[in-house]
Amino acid sequence: MTYKTIIEPFKIKSVEPIYMSTEKERISFLKKAHNNPFQLNSEEVIIDLLTDSGTSAMSAHQWSGMMQGDEAYAGSQSWRKMEKAINDLTGLEHVLPTHQGRAAERILYTTLGDKGKVFFSNTHFDTTRANIEFSGAEAIDIPISESKDPQLIHPFKGNIDTTLLEILIKKYGPENVGAVILTVTNNSGGGQPVSMSNAKTVSTICRKNKVLFILDCCRIAENSYFIQHRESGYENTSYRKIAQEMFSLADGAIMSAKKDALVNMGGFLAVKDPSLAEACRSLLIITEGFSTYGGLSGRDMEAIAIGLEEVFDDDYLKYRIRSTEYLGEKLHRMGIPIMLPIGGHAVYVDARTLYPHIPVDEYPGQALVCELYLKGGVRSVEVGSVMFGKYDEQHKLIPAPMDLVRLAIPRRVYTQSHIEYVIEVFEKILRDRDKTIGYKITYEPQYLRHFTAHFEPLKKIKSTIKQ
Ligand code: F0G
Repeated sequence: MTYKTIIEPFKIKSVEPIYMSTEKERISFLKKAHNNPFQLNSEEVIIDLLTDSGTSAMSAHQWSGMMQGDEAYAGSQSWRKMEKAINDLTGLEHVLPTHQGRAAERILYTTLGDKGKVFFSNTHFDTTRANIEFSGAEAIDIPISESKDPQLIHPFKGNIDTTLLEILIKKYGPENVGAVILTVTNNSGGGQPVSMSNAKTVSTICRKNKVLFILDCCRIAENSYFIQHRESGYENTSYRKIAQEMFSLADGAIMSAKKDALVNMGGFLAVKDPSLAEACRSLLIITEGFSTYGGLSGRDMEAIAIGLEEVFDDDYLKYRIRSTEYLGEKLHRMGIPIMLPIGGHAVYVDARTLYPHIPVDEYPGQALVCELYLKGGVRSVEVGSVMFGKYDEQHKLIPAPMDLVRLAIPRRVYTQSHIEYVIEVFEKILRDRDKTIGYKITYEPQYLRHFTAHFEPLKKIKSTIKQ
């Protein structure tokens, strides 16, 4: 017998109170934060959907594992547990622990990158791109063309364009390619999955050209769920086996353990090639820590080893993907424009379409982020012209291709009634849609402005409302 309610497959042992702010309080909190929810204190937030990174609730098993943490500087038992968990999962022999994903990226891409080098990816995550560009190399995104249409339904919108990949490897010369990076799932492309067949083609192209193939695997378990449910031939393969098969195609992997390893801090780099591992290890020791702890405590390594097992649990993954889908489906049915199909870790709302009367230079995404906070204390993040916008010589905004707002779902943290509440907040958003106004930037730093920029609401609604 099957039930349509998919319950959280866990009970709550330890709770964290939420301060239930009033709308009046939120108006003053947001003002103090210069209308940038990144600047809010966490206790001013009711439901925090800013990120799924480092925000997971750990299991009782993980917490008890932390008590076993071996804090030895060298040769810690906890390190050996973490190393074994990664060896078993990835099949990659050389593992380097790091304090989070971007530390692994810095080490690998500083080693592989240089002026004149080029990297290809379905989409480089922003820290990935930043680390590659910092090395002097170029990072080129080549997702399949279907990924660019937010409404188009495609089972594997996270795929890389393999025809273009072959053309570009030839154009730049295989000797100049630092690596091909598949990000699974594709975070910057809407949390969309990558198919096994796409990964296989990438692997074949890379082997033929003797180019390194790296997996950014921070959401590999979620990606495996989509493969089992959407790709023929994998219906009866376990999520873990699917992940293992994908790892077997790659030469290395980078993981921010803050996602699918279900921990609050941690990461790793794993590679096949011993000489590459050696070069990376030197950088690791200089900047992160000795090779048996990286930037991690023994207890963190225990939690990672356990989390990497737990994340492949059938009931967990079903609940995880279905609960994200549940939010997305309800919003879609209500008439909120979202990116389709719904991804694994987040729902992306198309704010430009939601607010056609707010011009792009008045930041419709920021307007929605502020509305969500004011109306319900829900924190989200703008992924649009605030985050990626640039200026031309006349200081006119060059907008991002889309103005999205990401509602990222922390793992094992919120229950269905929290999600129902978010859905109700969106009903209010829809009701006040035409009255919602845009924002202007009153202060911005030179780099990564979305974290610290100041905004002010524009008083008047511009008369560009489409009928
Ligand atoms: N790669 C991907 C695909 C990511 O999503 C992230 C982080 C990283 C690498 C970097 O890992 O944060 O541990 O240094 N994504 C977070 C997010 C920040 O909110 O999506 P990190």
